[in-house]
Amino acid sequence: MKIKLSIYFLIFIITAFVLISGTSNVNENPTPLPFIIPKGWPVPSRNIFEKNRLTEEGFQLGKKLFYDGRLSKDGEISCGSCHQQFSAFSTYDHDLSHGINNLLTTRNAPALINLAWMNELHWDGGINHLEVQPLSPITAPNEMGEKLENVLNKLRNDSIYPRMFKAAFKDTSISIPKMLKAIAQFTGNLISSNSRYDKFKRGEATFTTYELTGYKIFKANCASCHKEPLFTDNSFRNNGQQLNRFKDYGRQIITSKQEDSLKFKVPTLRNAALTFPYMHDGHLYSLYEVIDHYRSGIDTTQKTLDPLLKKKIEISNTDKMNLILFLNTLIDSSFINNPRFSFKIK
Ligand code: HEC
Ligand code: HEC
Repeated sequence: MKIKLSIYFLIFIITAFVLISGTSNVNENPTPLPFIIPKGWPVPSRNIFEKNRLTEEGFQLGKKLFYDGRLSKDGEISCGSCHQQFSAFSTYDHDLSHGINNLLTTRNAPALINLAWMNELHWDGGINHLEVQPLSPITAPNEMGEKLENVLNKLRNDSIYPRMFKAAFKDTSISIPKMLKAIAQFTGNLISSNSRYDKFKRGEATFTTYELTGYKIFKANCASCHKEPLFTDNSFRNNGQQLNRFKDYGRQIITSKQEDSLKFKVPTLRNAALTFPYMHDGHLYSLYEVIDHYRSGIDTTQKTLDPLLKKKIEISNTDKMNLILFLNTLIDSSFINNPRFSFKIK
């Protein structure tokens, strides 16, 4: 990791030098892209775009990079192969996702939703900024397995990228920091805020009585961790699952603190109906199984089990159905079908 970071730093210095020495050829200014906070939502506690001015050209470049397999060693695996739009940018139907040479990851690919509100990324919070996040999958041997200098060479020798980097950053030089900025402009704009739940909250749609009951059950049993409107409070908690075959202790791996053993990031439940399988290792295949976990599967012997889950959660079979009907109102079809986020071949 140290080596990776220092390469990153070196490239950053070189880019800064090139910029300062005024080799850039400025003619057209990129189009500013406003970051719109949905009505009633909190302002992100940190502005991840503070040093990364959002522009339409930056976003489009980020999108192209997100869907480009050439960021991987064998040219086959793009970010989008593990983060598929139709399943809210998670991996559809796979507990673990496949990297190069069909190697498996040890965790389930989370949905990419409303990341601008998330200060710590990955199930264990091991990444603290959206802009550096891609370094992890690009270089991980079981994900994209590529060296950064190879990525740079591929981008520099491409017929389209130099033009796109110039449009986004006003100079033709291609660097890793700029690539990371562009990817963050894309991933940070994956905002899902137009589900039926949102329309209900805005007074534009109604809920059935089943959905209303499900919402009540949700507020009573789930909302303290899966906090509205993001459906996560972005904390790390132990929700009572067994230690898995990879001996994944979650947050403890990052903090080395015993008290963080088996704590994982509370995931958003927006679009959850589309993001199965569930949990950090994808071992639960349906929302029914998830609710059964909360009703009867919690391992209460764990020392770090969240206090909120120490008391048994009682949900009747009828209410389990109502709760699922409520969770289905979090499906945002305008998000999963938004052509702005889609891969298209030009
Ligand atoms: C081989 C599959 C795979 C590829 C390729 C991949 N990811 Fe991921 N992604 C994952 C997995 C698995 C995780 C969870 C990692 C963890 O928790 O340790 C993840 C986590 C993330 C997260 C954190 C989300 C959160 O809620 O914390 C972001 C953001 C992300 N990936 C973006 C990207 C980008 C951008 C790329 C391309 C540069 C990419 N991913 C490539 C599988 C993949
Ligand atoms: C004490 C906090 C807490 C409470 C209460 C809670 N959850 Fe969770 N939930 C979590 C954590 C932490 C995870 C991630 C655990 C993991 O991956 O190992 C999670 C994961 C999930 C997932 C998987 C999502 C995904 O993308 O993989 C679903 C679905 C879910 N919870 C639904 C519910 C429902 C429904 C309730 C109420 C019956 C509930 N949760 C109550 C903390 C909580």
